[in-house]
Order: sequence, then structure tokens, then C-alpha cells
Amino acid sequence: MLDSVVVDGVGKTYAGSVEAIREARFRVAPGEFLSLLGPSGCGKSTLLMMIAGLLAPSRGSIRVDGVEVQGPRRDVGIVFQSPVLLPWRTVLDNVLLPVEMLRLRRTDYERRARDLLSMAKVDDFAAKLPHELSGGMKQRVAICRALVHDPALLLMDEPFNALDAMTRDQMGLELLRIWDVHKKTVVFVTHSIREAVFLSDRVLVMTPRPATIGFETDVKLPRPRTMDMQEADEFNRYVGLLRHSIEAGTRP
Ligand SMILES: Nc1ncnc2c1ncn2[C@@H]1O[C@H](COP(=O)(O)OP(=O)(O)O)[C@@H](O)[C@H]1O
Ligand SMILES: [Mg+2]
Repeated sequence: MLDSVVVDGVGKTYAGSVEAIREARFRVAPGEFLSLLGPSGCGKSTLLMMIAGLLAPSRGSIRVDGVEVQGPRRDVGIVFQSPVLLPWRTVLDNVLLPVEMLRLRRTDYERRARDLLSMAKVDDFAAKLPHELSGGMKQRVAICRALVHDPALLLMDEPFNALDAMTRDQMGLELLRIWDVHKKTVVFVTHSIREAVFLSDRVLVMTPRPATIGFETDVKLPRPRTMDMQEADEFNRYVGLLRHSIEAGTRP
């Protein structure tokens, strides 16, 4: 089968000559949950925004479902670090925003939007405004919004950073449930080693800027993942492995 994402020798140097990405080269299989793990400032967001078509690479090319990315694509859903909901729109109308922006018919998607809200356990809040929701609920709404137009690829940039530790674990489980039901390809950016291990099929470790992919490992923990697994030796072996690779990359 065709790879969902192909990142082919991609580099990014920002104007003013900040070299964020030296070279990235990797593929993501359809339905795979891949994490990009790396220290703050190494270029994770830069790489994700290039896959999303929101930022152009300086070198190399990116293909999504076999087609070169040359601008924002409708078959991609993005979840940012903060949920950025429009404060004057209800939860339901926020979820339906991509439908409007893509000029699709609202009536065709309203049912799906409500189903997603129900799956994310925020359906009781469909008619509320964002300020009436907790941080975790807002982020769930943002995930629904990223899924409403049924994109094949979900790109997530440290989506749970603003949440407390317990809500964060809960959201991870929710995300895995949604991923399992909807069979999306996910590229998930994080600086949390445990989060990367817990969620992923595979983890790529980025070196400090200018970034390359320094290390990669499959995570062969069984699915569905459960919180208990975080105490298992196998889980902690992966955490140790990744921590060592990050420390090796960080050393001057
Ligand atoms: N628009 C920009 N112009 C210049 N430099 C930038 C810009 N955006 C990010 N950078 C720099 O590129 C590097 C990588 O940033 P970023 O991709 O946001 O890292 P991360 O998401 O891993 O924290 C950082 O050194 C950052 O300062
Ligand atoms: Mg970032």
C-alpha cells in the first residue's frame, strides 16, 4: 500500500538563516501512529507544519498519499498545542468550522459533528460557548474539529501540553480510542518520552537544532494500551532506550 506520508530529504532554514531542520527522511504507513519526539526548539512544529502544507520546505519534498504537498490540504486534520476555539461560536459551530472553510454542506456534516462530540464525551456541551468548558474539554472539541471532515491524516502538535498530568493521561486514552475507531494515520509531536511510548506504534527521535532524525524504534506493546502498562518493565525499557538516545543527541 502507498505510504500516507513520505518526508524525503527535507530541510528548513528560516529567513535570517536559522537552520531548524538539517535533514529529515521518513515514511508513515497508513493507519500508523507515529510520534516525533525531541527537545523544545529542535524543529518539531516546523516539521509538522511542513507536512500540513502550512510552511514550505527549503529543501527536499513531502508527499501525502502520493501527492506532493504544495499548500494546505483538505484531507489533513490539525490539532495545535492550544485548542484555539473561536470564543463567539458554540462548540458545535467550532467543530463545523472546517466544513465551512472547505465549502462543504453543513447539513451533510452536522450529524457527524454530533457523533464525534458524543464520542469525545462533550455532546452535552454542543450548544455552549468555549469559555464554559474546561481545558481538557476544549482540547477534545479541537480534536473533533480536526476529524469532522474525515481527513485520512491527523497531525497533532503537543496537543496535551496545557493539561494537568491526570487529564493528559485520560486524553491519551481517548485519542487512542478515537484513532482505533476511525483508523487514521497520526503524526504526533511531543517532548514527553512516556507519552510517545504510551501512544505510538513507532517513535522518531529528533536531535537538537538543526534537527535530523537521530534514532527510531518500534513500540511493540500490545493494543489496546492501558494505564497499567506504564508500570510494566517492557514500557520502561522503551522509556530508557529513548531517554538514552536523547541524551546521546544532546551531548555537546
Ligand atoms: N518563523 C520563524 N522564523 C525564524 N525562526 C523560527 C521560526 N519559527 C521557528 N523558528 C526557530 O526554529 C527552531 C525550531 O522551532 P520549532 O519548530 O518551533 O521547534 P519545536 O516545535 O521543536 O519546539 C527554533 O530555534 C525556533 O526559534
Ligand atoms: Mg513546537
